[in-house]
Amino acid sequence: MPGLFLSCDGLDGTGKSTQCRLLIDRLRAAGRTVVSCREPGGTPLGDRVRELLLDKQYDMSLPAESFLFMASRAELVRHVIRPALADDSVVVCDRFLLASVAYQGYGGGLSLDAIRAMGQLATGGLAPDLTLVFDLPVEAALARRGRAADRMEDRAQDYHERVRHGFLTEAAAAPDRIRIVDASGDADTIHRAAWAIVAPLVGLP
Ligand code: TYD
Repeated sequence: MPGLFLSCDGLDGTGKSTQCRLLIDRLRAAGRTVVSCREPGGTPLGDRVRELLLDKQYDMSLPAESFLFMASRAELVRHVIRPALADDSVVVCDRFLLASVAYQGYGGGLSLDAIRAMGQLATGGLAPDLTLVFDLPVEAALARRGRAADRMEDRAQDYHERVRHGFLTEAAAAPDRIRIVDASGDADTIHRAAWAIVAPLVGLP
């Protein structure tokens, strides 16, 4: 079978990374070669960019932050994702360009057009065949993240609301490429819902 590019996204605390892992295990058990990756990072340069992005000593401007995410993405596309797809592997990426659109765009207020233009440059136009967005109300996602929602500042809560709205809006605009998965159940239930969407794409029951 030809290569397939899947990405998982959603707010922190929606169980996205666990679901990526379950998806990868399931695809491998079915005999597919899977290359897994996550953003930011996944290449030598990308891993160093990830350290910069996570380092709290920098009061980073929104454009600088966006360029760094894009730099990591460009490296990942060139060195990992394109070669894997050329090899007919299934690529499962924990976050991709949609994260920049949702976080830096809807959340941070950077122009969506600017992000899409940067994204085009970073990816050379490569987009996931399918993105699963694991969705939970912000309060529930924050609680699952292990941090009580009432300790968050209002602005932080607002920010996450905008990010969630971004994911939902983008999914509504491109329902064939971006699918929302209700992440309110237990891991198995969520995985079943995700698998029901992915399985037909890889010719599996
Ligand atoms: P995340 O997937 O949560 O990494 P981890 O599970 O290893 O902590 O990503 C880290 C943060 O980066 C998360 O809050 C989302 C954010 N992010 C953006 O703001 N823009 C992007 O383009 C990407 C890829 C991530």
